Amino acid sequence: MIPLLLLGLAAINAADLSDENRGQWSVLSENGTLCIKMYAQIDLKLSYVKDDDSLAEAGIIMVPVDATTENSSCYEKVQVGEDIVDSQVLQLNFPNNEGWNVRIYYTEDARLDVDPGDYALYQVTVTANYSSMPDVFKDTPKGHTHTYYSVIDFTDPPFIANDEYTKVGDCLYCPDSQAYIINEDPHHGPPASVSLTNLQMQAYMTGDDFGKIVTCAEDENELDLVPVIVSCILAGLVLFTLVAYFVYRARLPIDILNITEQEFEEDEYELHHEKQQLHENGQGQINNGFHEQEQRY
Ligand SMILES: *[C@@H]1O[C@H](CO)[C@@H](O)[C@H](O)[C@H]1NC(C)=O
Ligand SMILES: *[C@@H]1O[C@H](CO)[C@@H](O)[C@H](O)[C@H]1NC(C)=O
Ligand SMILES: *[C@@H]1O[C@H](CO)[C@@H](O)[C@H](O)[C@H]1NC(C)=O
Repeated sequence: MIPLLLLGLAAINAADLSDENRGQWSVLSENGTLCIKMYAQIDLKLSYVKDDDSLAEAGIIMVPVDATTENSSCYEKVQVGEDIVDSQVLQLNFPNNEGWNVRIYYTEDARLDVDPGDYALYQVTVTANYSSMPDVFKDTPKGHTHTYYSVIDFTDPPFIANDEYTKVGDCLYCPDSQAYIINEDPHHGPPASVSLTNLQMQAYMTGDDFGKIVTCAEDENELDLVPVIVSCILAGLVLFTLVAYFVYRARLPIDILNITEQEFEEDEYELHHEKQQLHENGQGQINNGFHEQEQRY
């Protein structure tokens, strides 16, 4: 029982321990104040068009933990279709693959279904320079670069914005993987999706570190509460059983204690034998109670 309990507690901490693939990035404004901070493991799943026009899928590409944040911005006017959206942008540049970056866009713009006082992640783009990853993108046209992006429709804001938002001043924490489709419309290029794992992020920051932590709605039930509840129930059962056992033991007269001591070493034959003896002594009730308790082990 006790090792089981420890296992339950270990499961709670597992998410915090797998940190080696988790990058930590932040963006400073020109006057030196922090505007975006993000900790996450970012995995990309990209398809691409080969020389012969066939579609192929590259394996999972992880954004390097040492990606640089050059050309990120605390205030950028982003062109979205015909419109301009005031945004904050985290740009992650692959240090060893020239021409590769991921840009993560945040806004407070109400046209994207963001409530007053909230900010949201509304777009992720990936710029891929196939030539600088020749082992992954085989048989691609020389010097070809493609930018994967979502087409944003103001009348039907993207799914990502519905999910990845919180109040200005708060930090969003999502230990489970959150997967998003960047593009699935063949008219806008090959399919792409991104997954964010062990995510902690905040944009439109008001202080010099993460604010109040708000856990993603989906994670709260599954990941955090279940092990806690199970552990508590197990701990309760263990305690109850132990206490009940010792109370019984303490109440048993010395001669019965001597009999029960043997019983743990020997087998059922002894149990029946002992039961009979106790009935003769008129102590059957205590004895039966004790047996019920004992069967729990
Ligand atoms: C720093 O710049 C941001 C905009 O980039 C502005 O909102 C903020 O008020 C500035 N802070 C100071 C202390 O000047
Ligand atoms: C940053 O932007 C400048 C100007 O547009 C550009 O010359 C430079 O290559 C960019 N750097 C990265 C890493 O994208
Ligand atoms: C793409 O990668 C190739 C090979 O590393 C490099 O020569 C080229 O300049 C890169 N293109 C861009 C736009 O970064």
